[in-house]
Amino acid sequence: MSASRDPAAPGASRIAVLPSAVADQIAAGEVVERPASVVKELIENALDAGATSIDVDVEDGGRQRMRVSDDGTGMGRDDAMLALSRHATSKIQVAADLVGVASFGFRGEALPAICSVSQLEIETASADGAGTRVRAAGGTIQDTREAARRRGTTVSVAHLFYNAPARLKFMRGARSEWRAIMDAVTSVALTRRDVRLTLTHDGKNVLTLPPASSLRARLGALWGGRYAERFLDVDDVRGATRVSGLVERPADVGTAGRRVYVSVNGRAVRDTGIVRAAEAAYKSTIPAGVRPSLYLDVEVAADAVDVNVHPAKAEVRFRDRWPMERVVEDAVRRALGTLDAGAAIGRPAFPFSAPPRDEPPAVDLETLRQTGVPMDEGLFQQSDSRTVDESDSRTVGQPDRDTAEDVPIPPLLQLRRTYLMFEGDGGVVLIDQHSAHERVLYERFMGALTRGEAPAQRLLFPITLHLGPAEAEAFEENRALFEQLGFEIEGFGGHTLIVSSVPMPHPRFDAERCLRETLDALTGDRFAAAAQRHERLAATIACKAAIKAGDALSPAEMRALFADLSRTTLPAHDVHGRSTVVQLSWDELERRFGRQ
Ligand SMILES: Nc1ncnc2c1ncn2[C@@H]1O[C@H](COP(=O)(O)OP(=O)(O)OP(=O)(O)O)[C@@H](O)[C@H]1O
Ligand SMILES: [Mg+2]
Repeated sequence: MSASRDPAAPGASRIAVLPSAVADQIAAGEVVERPASVVKELIENALDAGATSIDVDVEDGGRQRMRVSDDGTGMGRDDAMLALSRHATSKIQVAADLVGVASFGFRGEALPAICSVSQLEIETASADGAGTRVRAAGGTIQDTREAARRRGTTVSVAHLFYNAPARLKFMRGARSEWRAIMDAVTSVALTRRDVRLTLTHDGKNVLTLPPASSLRARLGALWGGRYAERFLDVDDVRGATRVSGLVERPADVGTAGRRVYVSVNGRAVRDTGIVRAAEAAYKSTIPAGVRPSLYLDVEVAADAVDVNVHPAKAEVRFRDRWPMERVVEDAVRRALGTLDAGAAIGRPAFPFSAPPRDEPPAVDLETLRQTGVPMDEGLFQQSDSRTVDESDSRTVGQPDRDTAEDVPIPPLLQLRRTYLMFEGDGGVVLIDQHSAHERVLYERFMGALTRGEAPAQRLLFPITLHLGPAEAEAFEENRALFEQLGFEIEGFGGHTLIVSSVPMPHPRFDAERCLRETLDALTGDRFAAAAQRHERLAATIACKAAIKAGDALSPAEMRALFADLSRTTLPAHDVHGRSTVVQLSWDELERRFGRQ
């Protein structure tokens, strides 16, 4: 330490302006974290220059060399040199330009930052001028000369961090750096599908992506058509917010590695809020703990988002985050809720795709009689001699009803006592009766557990259950929840239970069997977190209580099931994520009949 900066020396100045080379290296630390950051910045510059084709070539995971070539506007000689100075940018001029900036770059930082910690070469030519080659190292231009090349720019970066030993130490192995580069290229490929991209590693071509007409096509080009078929289309607009993309079918979640890509106004970003909102839409279709793959583009008004909040531009800040997240969640839920009998069919205009959200009022038997439901064939017929006590049935909060003035019900046909079939707008539609009823009951039971509106049916003859020790323990642990669901149960010394009230999902409901099977499924579930236990119990009872494949349904029962299903929030999937509904599109039928 020099004498003049000795803190002990009285009156001496202790603050000094850093030499610019040091300042540049410090700034570089924020922008250039690893080879992949270089690739990202260079590709973004190419895109900003209007490139339609970009070739990325790296050696040794980017540790030796990275080269990005484009067919963009290129630069004249003066600009090519100026581009390496800090705060030199062609993209904004005054601070106000930052609001709603549409280009990737805006700081004039990337090239000088990269240059300060590497050996860099720019070869560039604009449409009219001769080509230029600039060589620089450690932030200093070494020579500039003419070079013949077609319009566009090639930037080569060699020996990253060669002059910054502290940074060099943090560089990972070639494989790990290569993986990060692939990830950076992939997220550009997903957000800018109009651009042709190639990626070469150690002389081997790894990726060749032609321009793609859709996200699904890009996904197919990246990971194969089979992979692309796992996804459902998302596309919703609300106000100035648009959410589009692809989300994994619930049934496929967890069966392949998880990938999540989010872009905001065309910039790939990390945004846990958006991801969480999308995941919330899956609630109840997939087990807690497994997480879906997501590819989401969020577009908001340009002035509703601040892109200048993160040194590597990996995050953005929303002026109004919460409403945007709501749109994301609703859009994803709607995508999950539509029929998904093959990715080829478009969004069907079918009541399931936009169920009314309000809760159906509880309807008692008397009201139903007055509205003319044929009780002798209805869902409310008391066919189980044990579950009759009509005097008390006013309290039955039976939302099942056939008076669905809000849901148009088409003619329905039961096939193999398993499926309901009807004519939808987009084609022939089949509903799996068990899965559908399971979804209806699950949502009703979750309502009972969270809002405490339990439908209950008093039994004329209470059921006595004798349990094994494990089942008895499972019951004791879930006792409060059972009661909330509408079971009235007394423990009767040790392992005997007396059940005097049950929720009544349908007349064939076998309360005894349902309870036994549920308790059996719950044994060993002791360590589940409380929130999951709610869902687990509701799902288990729904599964055990639902009508089964093989149960013959009356026309009124079919209509009631249809109306109830269309009122659920996620009608197209059961609680295990399997489809409840399958559609054979008119197109497909016409193809099969040779009409097309
Ligand atoms: N591939 C390219 N083709 C044409 N011009 C380029 C290219 N790369 C860089 N430039 C020019 O060099 C300038 C500096 O690039 P640099 O990446 O350092 O800054 P920026 O893109 O303006 O802002 P940011 O630091 O936010 O990326 C750009 O503004 C642009 O004019
Ligand atoms: Mg840039």
